[in-house]
Amino acid sequence: MTKLIEKESDFSKMVNARLSRRGFLIGTAAAGAGAFLTLNPVAQAMSGMMEYSLLNFTAVPTSTSDNIIVPKGYSTSNLMSWGDPILPNAPAFNANGQQDSKAQTMQFGDNTDGMSIFPVSNDRAILAVNNEYTNYKHLFDHQGKAMTADDVKKAQAAVGITIVEIVKKNGQWALDQQGKANRRITANTEMEVTGPAAGHDLLKTKADLTGKKVLGTFNNCANGETPWGTYLTCEENFNGFFGSEQDVALTDDHKRYGVKAVQSKYQWHNFDERFDLSKNPTEPNRHGWVVEIDPNDPTSTPLKRTALGRFKHENAALMVNDDGHVVVYLGDDERGEHLYKFVSKDKYQKGNNAANRNLLEEGTLYVAKFGMEKDKLEGEGQWLELTYGKNGLTKANGFNSQAEVMIFARRAATQVGATTMDRPEWVAIHPDKKHVFCTLTNNKNRGVKAGQDVEGPNPRAENHYGQIVRWSPTKHDHTSDTFQWDLYLIAGNPTVHQGNLYAGSDNINKDNMFNSPDGIGFDKAGRLWIQTDGNYSNEGDFAGQGNNQMLCGDPETGEVRRFLTGPIGCEITGLTFSEDQKTMFVGVQHPSAHYPHGGDSKPRSTIVMITKDDGGIIGS
Ligand code: FEO
Ligand code: CA
Ligand code: CA
Ligand code: CA
Repeated sequence: MTKLIEKESDFSKMVNARLSRRGFLIGTAAAGAGAFLTLNPVAQAMSGMMEYSLLNFTAVPTSTSDNIIVPKGYSTSNLMSWGDPILPNAPAFNANGQQDSKAQTMQFGDNTDGMSIFPVSNDRAILAVNNEYTNYKHLFDHQGKAMTADDVKKAQAAVGITIVEIVKKNGQWALDQQGKANRRITANTEMEVTGPAAGHDLLKTKADLTGKKVLGTFNNCANGETPWGTYLTCEENFNGFFGSEQDVALTDDHKRYGVKAVQSKYQWHNFDERFDLSKNPTEPNRHGWVVEIDPNDPTSTPLKRTALGRFKHENAALMVNDDGHVVVYLGDDERGEHLYKFVSKDKYQKGNNAANRNLLEEGTLYVAKFGMEKDKLEGEGQWLELTYGKNGLTKANGFNSQAEVMIFARRAATQVGATTMDRPEWVAIHPDKKHVFCTLTNNKNRGVKAGQDVEGPNPRAENHYGQIVRWSPTKHDHTSDTFQWDLYLIAGNPTVHQGNLYAGSDNINKDNMFNSPDGIGFDKAGRLWIQTDGNYSNEGDFAGQGNNQMLCGDPETGEVRRFLTGPIGCEITGLTFSEDQKTMFVGVQHPSAHYPHGGDSKPRSTIVMITKDDGGIIGS
């Protein structure tokens, strides 16, 4: 059991002590650090009365085995794996790699990622889940070496989103293949563009002269959900789906987003000219957005929300601020890219979801600039507005409209002086609504590439372990332009490194170490669940860290315990809970050996359900 901190002010002291005990250079606690207080009211109430821990399970050791391991007293079962039929009359999965595109449009997509549950009743819910990309090695019998037009359609159907109803029978959740909400959204589903970039010339193509009708979404990484019942899916590495056989003159903006006129590994451009940059150079501008989906209505048109900016979106952490404005925190997962915040123009109206449905259409986008002082792992920060005409976002600097600021949000962020980050992945908002956490997964370019200085929340050169930054907006007002930040943890390997930041912060030890934090999310009690997508070689700098895993952290004490280890080759990504928090849904993405069925079977990305044998709340 962890001893509870005695007084509120001890929290910031403890954070600093934790970071400094290994000999890191830390200044005295800044006034701003006082903002990180009282994260857990239950713990606070119990302060001084007894020893208390938010984490009430026995940690599991690291693993290199090809299965899922959870703590004693917990069990797992599978909800669905890539290829499982999700619509009535859909064919069963066939591992031979010869099923056609039509079959895949009726089956669960590949590479399960971010997901959300929308409760319908005590024993029925809708699950919306991203299918990030697809593995040709497993998708086709020819492994991608003999692509046909239908193979491209099949790959386009293996990505996107899967929406299914799930039902609880005998205490166990299961897929309802007949569910009315069941739906596949793929790289060919028609969508509407909304917000400042809708209809702009940069979004027009030969096939869509309106610049408002886009086909499809792909590389859907993580997610978000709204209090008005919609699902947010985030388009991340969209650039990899475009290519060309021709030598196309690409702009610096294409390059900033990684769009290259090469033979793309997915080969879509060979059969679908929408993805051929020589024919459709503006098509990439129609991707890299957050898309809002109504999971209840399988006929609804997904809406691309351009007010939230275009970059390689990881997730969308949304909350209603005390004053009613909707605030969305957004990471751009690329080495040296940025962290963003959207604030809606209008306010949330409880009970008026017809109006709330428009809240993400209009607002203000900001990007984070972290204040840094030499050798300090905490400080102040500022949100810089990305509005045309302000902060140098002018014609003289190459911006001609708000649409351009949104389409080229990365360039706008550079223009205003945003901090380059170590790959911002998921953002999670603590249920107290006062503290926000973001995983900075790793960054081999830190200290190597120009402009990526070793400082502030990115304190290590060639960072291959990652860290979690945390901030609190001034006066707990998420519309505030200022915040105070510190690091919740610095991942590292204390068995390989000593006396420097590569050992990790003091809440990291040989028993809970890991690398590359990625998916994070809070449960209702304020436990921080941390999923990893890192190096699983178990060698060298990563010796003793094993396969990718999921840990659980107490934001107040800093304690971190390993809760789950995944099978060979996978990353663990995507988490959501049943309404009663007694079933946790976790994604196992791209296992590489024989998970989940063992033997000689083909590996398949799978959503796993975790329950506690005594029927209790997960983690309790
Ligand atoms: Fe799809 Fe940045 O992970
Ligand atoms: Ca991720
Ligand atoms: Ca990752
Ligand atoms: Ca991934």
